[in-house]
Amino acid sequence: MNSCNRHLNRRRALLFLLLSVLAFCSLIIYVIITNDINIIKSRQARGPTDTQWRFTGQHGINCLDIYDMDPVALGKSLELRRKVPPPPSDKSVVNATLDCGQFLASGRYSEVQISEQELNFPLAFSLVVHKDAHMVERLLRAIYAPHNIYCIHYDLKSSSAFTEAIHGLARCLPNVFVASQLETVQYGGISRLRADLNCLSDLLNSKIRWRYAINLCGQDFPLRSNAELVSELKALNGMNMLETIRPSAYKKERFTVSYKLKDAQSRYLDVPVKTNQKKQPPPHDIEIFVGSAYFVLSQEFVNFVHWSPQVKDFLAWSEDTYSPDEHFWASLIRTPGVPGEIKRSDPDIIDLMSKTRLVKWQYLEGKLYPACTGIHVHSVCIYAAAELRWLLNNGHWFANKFDLKVDPVVIECLERNLTERQRAMVTTP
Ligand SMILES: *[C@@H]1O[C@H](CO)[C@@H](O)[C@H](O)[C@H]1NC(C)=O
Ligand SMILES: *[C@@H]1O[C@H](CO)[C@@H](O)[C@H](O)[C@H]1NC(C)=O
Repeated sequence: MNSCNRHLNRRRALLFLLLSVLAFCSLIIYVIITNDINIIKSRQARGPTDTQWRFTGQHGINCLDIYDMDPVALGKSLELRRKVPPPPSDKSVVNATLDCGQFLASGRYSEVQISEQELNFPLAFSLVVHKDAHMVERLLRAIYAPHNIYCIHYDLKSSSAFTEAIHGLARCLPNVFVASQLETVQYGGISRLRADLNCLSDLLNSKIRWRYAINLCGQDFPLRSNAELVSELKALNGMNMLETIRPSAYKKERFTVSYKLKDAQSRYLDVPVKTNQKKQPPPHDIEIFVGSAYFVLSQEFVNFVHWSPQVKDFLAWSEDTYSPDEHFWASLIRTPGVPGEIKRSDPDIIDLMSKTRLVKWQYLEGKLYPACTGIHVHSVCIYAAAELRWLLNNGHWFANKFDLKVDPVVIECLERNLTERQRAMVTTP
């Protein structure tokens, strides 16, 4: 019994040992396999890596040659334009922001270098966007600095993948947030203006004491680094930068008669529709000037717009005008007594004088600037590589419009140029 027991015990011990070894081995194998699966999964999840969407390197295009208008380099960019694959989908941006650690590392958000001067002069951005999440991310990266603050307003009509991507960006970047109130943006309607106003009031509520607010849309791109922008904004001495001109007879129609935004079923119309009803003149003797929807505004001016009861009345009056974003800022800046006021008697500030946005209008090509080398959409040029030099040397701060489907090279070369300039400006004493 004893020996038998001992024998049994030995066999049990052996079996136990064998089972333990087996269990241990399967655990190791399990860990290896699942890890592999996880790696494969995360590779799939991230989709095409970010660098795969940079074409200049892959096609041997040197941005300095593009800037120098080298015909061979420009020729290569033309060839590339014929075969650019579709840009990464909104879903791939969603995937990329699932793992914020990975996202931040790949996006080089943490590598941004800033100077003391920039640190003491934070900027606020209002981004009004509705599609192409990958391009929104490229824009955000181009203007990103960790001490600035960014509000993103997306259209309530945007796809769920797009809105998810925007929420992903806001989740991964602590100084990026989604507007607390979102609009269904109607072309030419007041909702476009409200989208910016919603962001501006959120930005005023943020803890960051920003100095200037800048609004951008999804097809804009910067032409200046953050460091350069800050030194130019400091030189404004509290003034604002925007277009403000006396309205032509054609433009006057947009606010002297009432426009209808909704149809009988109270659904939004494609564009506001003109009615026969004449409008009252604007309240508080506000004189109408026109300009564009784009602005660079001081914190003091934005604060005034936010709190002034007169502005509230003016906004209500603008409700049934056509494209009120194109007269709202341009008129308020001429109102006597506002911070950074431009006198009503002062000359027009046209778009080429205001540095907020460089836009190439088809009807002015060959007159004010060289012809568009990309394509036209609604008479506005979508830039291509041969415009890089003109864009960078025009003195403007931002340009519109860009589209990766039209020409990825001009966007990549701007990215490279700005990164280089930011680095040079921050590191040289
Ligand atoms: C996103 O990830 C999911 C699963 O992780 C995958 O099925 C999908 O194909 C990915 N989508 C893109 C566009 O990368
Ligand atoms: C960037 O653009 C400027 C012109 O604004 C030019 O002088 C400079 O050489 C460019 N730098 C790079 C690295 O492309």
